Amino acid sequence: MNPLFEEEYRFNQASRPNWDAAKQHRETVTGNLKRLPGAQGGRLCVLGAGNCNDLDLKQLLQVYSEVHLVDLDQSALDYAIEAQGVSGEAAVVCHVGDLTGAGQQLAALAQDENSSEAVLDEIRERLSRTTPLELPGPFDVVCSTCILSQLILQVVNAIGETDPRFEELMKAVRAQHYRTVVELITPGGAGFIVSDFVSSESAADLKQVPDFQFTQYLSQLLSSRNFFHGVHPGILLAQLQGNAPLARLVQNVEMLPPWRWDLGARQYAVAGIRFERIPEA
Ligand SMILES: C[S@@+](CC[C@H](N)C(=O)[O-])C[C@H]1O[C@@H](n2cnc3c(N)ncnc32)[C@H](O)[C@@H]1O
Repeated sequence: MNPLFEEEYRFNQASRPNWDAAKQHRETVTGNLKRLPGAQGGRLCVLGAGNCNDLDLKQLLQVYSEVHLVDLDQSALDYAIEAQGVSGEAAVVCHVGDLTGAGQQLAALAQDENSSEAVLDEIRERLSRTTPLELPGPFDVVCSTCILSQLILQVVNAIGETDPRFEELMKAVRAQHYRTVVELITPGGAGFIVSDFVSSESAADLKQVPDFQFTQYLSQLLSSRNFFHGVHPGILLAQLQGNAPLARLVQNVEMLPPWRWDLGARQYAVAGIRFERIPEA
């Protein structure tokens, strides 16, 4: 078993009972997904769906004709479908597998810090492509939901954040994920990138700070470099703007006000970016 993935299974198992606590987060994610261009009667694909505590599947099925859930953890998807009472729904389709295609090689790095350049080359090569999963795209709407921080954490767990190769691999994982999201969207469709970027583990006041001070509090955290590797909201936005390679494929890129994701024992601050894929001429 891949130890990096075992960590994901453990996290999903532990965070299953958080449906009630995740209400605000779920309403924000689901509400945005229902309003995106292409939603009505369209096909939705969610990357990192896991336990789906952030998705009201019944509400989404009132809007979308198909909901495709992608995750490496089959048991989390099974749980979600059962818990939300949609197990008989043919319109809900699960896809199980490693979205990066590099998980086994990253685990090999984790197990042997002197891994050969050949392993690194293989990781670089896999990350230079989009996901190896054969998903039935393109989709009208594609959502990445709190998976990017986990993908980057797998790089941290594989080689450590102080390793000179960390920055390169972290950027390659992030770039691959963005390419995967954008390339899965049909021209004229929409994307929604949702990412947790700091938690109460390193920002103890996150739980208590009142709503009206939340944005200002987060700005202070970001200025003091208190955020998860690679997912500063400004950097997440920059992947789709200016000179970024994907910027020419997207339009109407909009950063939403940050919100909270309550995971019971821990709270997270979450960034959301909506955008559209430019229609073909
Ligand atoms: C923080 S959880 C998402 C939370 C979930 N949307 C919820 O609210 O219940 C991140 C998810 O990404 C999945 N994941 C992590 N690495 C992955 C990979 N390489 N390929 C596919 N899924 C992955 C994990 O299994 C986990 O379900």
